[in-house]
Order: sequence, then C-alpha cells, then structure tokens
Amino acid sequence: TTTRVSGNMRRAGVKTRADASEGPPRAQPNPNQMLVLVPPHPLLKHWLAVARNVQTPPPIFRAAMAEIGRILIYECGRDWLQTFEAQVQGPLAIADVEYVNPEKPVCVVPILRAGLTLLEESASVLPSSVTYHLGYVRDEETLQPKLYLNKLPKQFAEDSQILVSDPMLATGGTIVAAIDEMVSRGASPKNIRIICVVASPVALTQLSERYPGLRVYAAMIDEVLNDDGYIVPGLGDAGDRAFGTM
Ligand code: URA
Repeated sequence: TTTRVSGNMRRAGVKTRADASEGPPRAQPNPNQMLVLVPPHPLLKHWLAVARNVQTPPPIFRAAMAEIGRILIYECGRDWLQTFEAQVQGPLAIADVEYVNPEKPVCVVPILRAGLTLLEESASVLPSSVTYHLGYVRDEETLQPKLYLNKLPKQFAEDSQILVSDPMLATGGTIVAAIDEMVSRGASPKNIRIICVVASPVALTQLSERYPGLRVYAAMIDEVLNDDGYIVPGLGDAGDRAFGTM
C-alpha cells in the first residue's frame, strides 16, 4: 500500500508509513519528524468502505467506527504498551508470560462527540486505561474550535502515555487546540499518539510543524478539504452520522 504525501507534508517533515502491521519502524524514528502510520489491513479498508457509504445507517456506522478504532489501537499499542514478566501455572507446566502493566494505564482522550466512536471497543484492547473527555464544538462560521468540556487532569506526568481519539483531522484546528491543552498540563508530545479515521494533509502539516514528536495512526489520508472545512470524500460529519443528528 502506498500513501500519497502532499508537498506541504513532506516539507513539514511528515513521514508516512503504510506498513505499520509489519512491526515497529526498523530505523529509529526521527524525533523531529512526525510519523503518520496508515496500517494496510484489509479489515481497516472494509470498515472504512462501510463508514464512507452514505447509505450506512447510524448503528452500522458506529459499528464500523468501533472496528476501525479497535484496529488502530492495536497498531498504536504494538511498540508502546508496557509489559512486565511473570510466571503462571498452566495446565501442563509453569509458563513464562508477560502482562500489560496495570500500573501504567494509558490516558485515553476522546475529542467529543465523534472521538467516542473509536473507543467503543477500547476496553477489550487496553487492559488498563483512564479516560479524560475533551469537548469541542466547531463554530460553523469561523471554523474555530470552542472548548466546552475539559476533564483533563490538572497535570500529566511527563511519562504519561496519551491516546487521543478524533476521527476527522480536517483543518487541524481542533486537534491542535487539544494537544496544546494537554501539553500545557505537562504532557510530552513524544508520548502522545492520535488515532483518526481520515486525516487531511493540512491538519497533518499543522500538527507536525507544532509537535514533530507526535505519532498519528490513520485509516486513510484524503487530500481535499472543501470550503466548509469538510474532508472530501471523507465521511461527512462523523458525529452527526454516528448519533443520527443529520
Ligand atoms: N468533522 C467531521 O466530522 N467531518 C469532516 O469532514 C470535518 C470535520
């Protein structure tokens, strides 16, 4: 699978990889270059096709988003989740095992509303997590994000691992405001990973210029933004489609 990278993204130092499922990057990633991973998984393509279809009703749209979220969280956790070694008594013998460390819960930050849809299956993927909601509405005239709910902790530990969920990275305004909010509370950009369904080069360029240490996991990059700030072909308004408020 190849991922088209626009000239702006390349100039901004965004590196894209379509082979996340082959394991962690072979070369040590450059901390000054944002990494965008588009896992080439057939199920990701399938559920993206379902989500893109305008005929898909809200319950199926939500199911598709939940599956996309599940796959992206698996990929994101691959070289990220911390484990500890232990031994368990199995039916036949003692086995050396590893568990995900419950003392290092991932801080999950859904950007409301649509960010919730990618986390429907997260509890079965992440054995231990804590969720901090962030709510933004987009002013449809200025396209600027307005923060209306902030459940972030006052201070993140510097090594907090933060998984941000926002399905549509369009103009980049909301996701940049959200990362700013986390960084102002002590989060380190190199420990923040974003899962999204569709990202635009405009948003990725903005993120990489401001926070080059970030990682983004996306199901697809769509090149075009329309005059209303919607991604084309995109999914339409992901929140409206999930919650039936079209
Ligand atoms: N938000 C959405 O839900 N869809 C877009 O295309 C852009 C922003």
